[in-house]
Amino acid sequence: MQRTLALTVGRHIALRKKVYSLCFRPTAAMSTLLINQPKYAWLKELGLKEDNDGVYNGTWGGKGEVITSYCPANNEPIARVRQATLEEYEETVKKSREAWKVWADIPAPKRGEIVRQIGDALRQKIKVLGSLVSLEMGKIYVEGVGEVQEYVDVCDYAVGLSRMIGGPVLPSERPGHALIEQWNPVGLVGIITAFNFPVAVYGWNNAIALICGNVCLWKGAPTTPLTSVAVSKIVAEVLEQNNLPGAICSMTCGGADIGTAMSKDERVNLVSFTGSTHVGKMVSLMVQERFGRQLLELGGNNAIIVFEDADLSLVVPSAVFAAVGTAGQRCTTTRRLMLHESVHDEVVQRISKAYKQVRIGDPWDPSTLYGPLHTKQAVDQYLAAIEQAKQQGGTVVCGAKVMDRPGNYVEPTIITGLPHDAPIVHTETFVPILYVLKFKTEEEAFAWNNEVKQGLSSSIFTKDMGRVFRWLGPKGSDCGIVNVNIPTSGAEIGGAFGGEKHTGGGRESGSDSWKQYMRRSTCTINYSKDLPLAQGIKFE
Ligand code: UN1
Repeated sequence: MQRTLALTVGRHIALRKKVYSLCFRPTAAMSTLLINQPKYAWLKELGLKEDNDGVYNGTWGGKGEVITSYCPANNEPIARVRQATLEEYEETVKKSREAWKVWADIPAPKRGEIVRQIGDALRQKIKVLGSLVSLEMGKIYVEGVGEVQEYVDVCDYAVGLSRMIGGPVLPSERPGHALIEQWNPVGLVGIITAFNFPVAVYGWNNAIALICGNVCLWKGAPTTPLTSVAVSKIVAEVLEQNNLPGAICSMTCGGADIGTAMSKDERVNLVSFTGSTHVGKMVSLMVQERFGRQLLELGGNNAIIVFEDADLSLVVPSAVFAAVGTAGQRCTTTRRLMLHESVHDEVVQRISKAYKQVRIGDPWDPSTLYGPLHTKQAVDQYLAAIEQAKQQGGTVVCGAKVMDRPGNYVEPTIITGLPHDAPIVHTETFVPILYVLKFKTEEEAFAWNNEVKQGLSSSIFTKDMGRVFRWLGPKGSDCGIVNVNIPTSGAEIGGAFGGEKHTGGGRESGSDSWKQYMRRSTCTINYSKDLPLAQGIKFE
């Protein structure tokens, strides 16, 4: 996610800021809301209205600040949400903990059955929910549907897991003793998610946390509140139909006040945070202060490295998908493209040609490949980053312009000629700017991959098997995601998702990520009539 930027205060930026503050007025008149236009009547299929409750804990509420959600493709207001007050947060935590008493007693496979039903309910709404993601976040329709699919898939995964999780029985050194690992839920999992994956990231946490026997309290991004409300309605209906407390999956829409309350709250046993490294650090310090548990998914600065033997017919679509897809707003977006000097010019030429063919348009139009940035603020960050890149020696090959159309559209941009360690290259700006670097040796390329603070995703393109295994090994990539001949983005739910260093170290979704949502007890049970001590100690 984007880190704080030292904004170059050009006149155009100051002007844009003025426009930004005018457009982002706190509330919008009912008559102007998109939800009232016949074209967007489908929003009502998700149970959305002009004004929506932003709190769910078995009952719906919201007495806090009213926020308007805007469509990034035209900056028009969609609908409004009443956020949670701190009193409502307090009440929700209490109800969640009460709900836990019920949920924790339900056998894991039966919890899995509820998660299966959540997956099915999402399947039924996948297109309309995907459309809402597209309308509210700004990503293209197929990606909106794709992230609901991730939630569906992780539900399926979690259902299977609900019959598989558990610990081993280990050999005890003492006769007549059993050494057992017992896994229990942590309790209440606070889930704070970002605007860029307003469904999937909640889904990964929610499905796995639930089968482990936890209850969830979700705070989505303040700029995608309608998606949070729509998802919570789907989940709530499943819980209510099964006569379960709705507070098993609570939601408190809000801003930093709610996030801070969750981070400091001893009753929130695990805080799972996805967002910027900057905010993640604040969350992390607050959670650490109380020795709480945390799961952090923070920024990335992901590189694709293209060697001289790479299949360029794979490289070009990979780089374009990973750098331009989601308008550069994935944590796993490719930000650095390292090209061996022998293929540098050809790849730059082919990629810039492909950039010019990317179909730009309304994100919900099925033929569009590239939509707007999420906010006007991101447009400012885009301009500021380009300015800095130029100052630091970069050459713009294509893009670098704000598009003359409604909404937050910018041209996907390629910049060459920067030193590998230029400050802007080491900064994650959450926009579609690709820095192309030229390298000579494998050693140099691997070192450049690892020299940034972040450690999320990485990829090489090569046919050399030795190089592949060096890349996977101790002197290879230091990231959580280490790919070969595929892009940096587009991870599957079956693997553990997350990264090292300033990316925060957390792992979500597949593999053994479930362990992050449970606490482990090492249990030694004496079923003999003697009391032998470990290490052969005699205490008589
Ligand atoms: C994120 O960008 O926050 O690998 C998550 C991917 C997606 C998840 C990205 N499956 O691109």
